[in-house]
Amino acid sequence: MEILRADGLPIEALCGGQGACATCHCYIDTEWQARLSPPTQDELDLLAILDTCNNASRLTCQLVFTDALDGLTLTIAPEG
Ligand code: FES
Repeated sequence: MEILRADGLPIEALCGGQGACATCHCYIDTEWQARLSPPTQDELDLLAILDTCNNASRLTCQLVFTDALDGLTLTIAPEG
């Protein structure tokens, strides 16, 4: 989420990365999904309240970005 913001992309992230708002919701492109750490139950619970949630959904504020994720591609969700 911080990287998206720093690049000037339109991500709301209203709670500032506290995992409380779901406005950092994105769809991770298929080829990258298995490289991410699995979501916590709290992240899954928050995603579950979104009508736009699907199997590619993640809250970007909950992703730990490492060099191995350089080049990751995603789509910002409608409410993201
Ligand atoms: S910024 Fe609020 S849940 Fe990610």
